[in-house]
Amino acid sequence: MSTPSATAASPGKGFRRAVSELDAKQAEAIMSPRFIGRRQSLIQDARKERARAEATGPGAALEAVEDRDGRAQLNLLFSLPAPPPHLLSRTLKAFETFEARIQHLETRPAQRAGPGGAHLEYFVRCEVPCASLAALLSALRRVAQDVRGAREPKVFWFPRKVSELDKCDHLVTKFDPDLDLDHPGFSDQEYRQRRRLIAQIAFQYRHGDPIPRVEYTPEEIATWKEVYSTLKGLYATHACREHLRAFQLLERCSGYREDSIPQLEDVSRFLKERTGFQLRPVAGLLSARDFLASLAFRVFQCTQYIRHASSPMHSPEPDCCHELLGHVPMLADPTFAQFSQDIGLASLGASDEEIEKLSTLYWFTVEFGLCKQNGELKAYGAGLLSSYGELLHSLSSEPEVRPFDPELAAVQPYQDQTYQPVYFVSESFSDARDKLRSYAARIQRPFSVRFDPYTLAVDVLDTPRAVARALDVVREDLQALTHALGALR
Ligand SMILES: [Fe+2]
Repeated sequence: MSTPSATAASPGKGFRRAVSELDAKQAEAIMSPRFIGRRQSLIQDARKERARAEATGPGAALEAVEDRDGRAQLNLLFSLPAPPPHLLSRTLKAFETFEARIQHLETRPAQRAGPGGAHLEYFVRCEVPCASLAALLSALRRVAQDVRGAREPKVFWFPRKVSELDKCDHLVTKFDPDLDLDHPGFSDQEYRQRRRLIAQIAFQYRHGDPIPRVEYTPEEIATWKEVYSTLKGLYATHACREHLRAFQLLERCSGYREDSIPQLEDVSRFLKERTGFQLRPVAGLLSARDFLASLAFRVFQCTQYIRHASSPMHSPEPDCCHELLGHVPMLADPTFAQFSQDIGLASLGASDEEIEKLSTLYWFTVEFGLCKQNGELKAYGAGLLSSYGELLHSLSSEPEVRPFDPELAAVQPYQDQTYQPVYFVSESFSDARDKLRSYAARIQRPFSVRFDPYTLAVDVLDTPRAVARALDVVREDLQALTHALGALR
């Protein structure tokens, strides 16, 4: 899921020169007028979420959250002139007068110059009867200055166990054949009906259910066959060795062949045995937060429908060709699987800004990443491995390639209307994973998380006791390793 395998409309002049050296089929694939643009990406969705949050505004004056008992929860900041200090006791008296229960009081360095040169400001979290709220604020403003709301660092909800992924179902981008005039299937009522039917599987799916099988039509299988055989012809020279290895296994064990579309349930079982990843059917593009959260549990949200038959080599949205040919083989590699999960774990509870950066990182690695193998560039990104035109382009002399650096990749402008002008090259998946972990460690969160593979749950390490419990597990692992080393002597 998450990006379409399509590539886009109007490549530039330099690009056309490069294309002239390709054979006719390759050139046709790249220059096809059916390149109608990559429309959907996690980054776009993450950006929208962040813009929405920013539009709300920080602090938003005084926000009080009312509970069921008619009491309001309030976070306040205010300043007092440096002298006289007794103003503090008068301020606290106001809380007492209006039956406000102070839950937390602290002084903080003032963020802006305070009245009379005050260098401290006061933070109070309190609970007050809703009926007294206005009077309390009025009383406070008579004594204190610069009384305003304080927004505490917000920790976004995130699933703690794999079954809670049932709640991660926010489809935020609706680019589908029912809504977009440019979609190849827009004027095909039969195709649109088919898409709605397959979407129902995802809507009704709950964690733990077997993924219902889809009986694909001869037309759908013909589309799959064209995509499969065309891309497979490029893999030997363009795909990384991990993809090639897994692809062979999938052909041997999971029904990968050109005349049959693999069933998600079979593929999911294959992945589970290899790396613990499992598939979950999804009706379209999820919000970036929900999609990344799924990765934290080694769950890959996977579309089940196929692109329109009129446009077999290009799709403006993710479809089963993109997922099964691009993503699935890579998720069968243990180091890449860990890399993917690490992006997911880093996203849990992160700010909208961090989610946007992680989505961009995901774009330049999981979707469009290159790696170096035996001195040659190879593709490992699913957006490349499921797009004939961009796979050729990415390994041509046309684009710029840069060493993978998460700090830079996380803010690199991306291209969703044509091929990427810039790709990031990883030395190896373990090198990429280590760099990602260093990046993730710098993300500001008031806790750490750890995935428990036995319960498929995320432990939130936000107390000394939680850290101690996690340490016990590490100790047990170390004991096993020590024993193993002893046995090897
Ligand atoms: Fe994708």
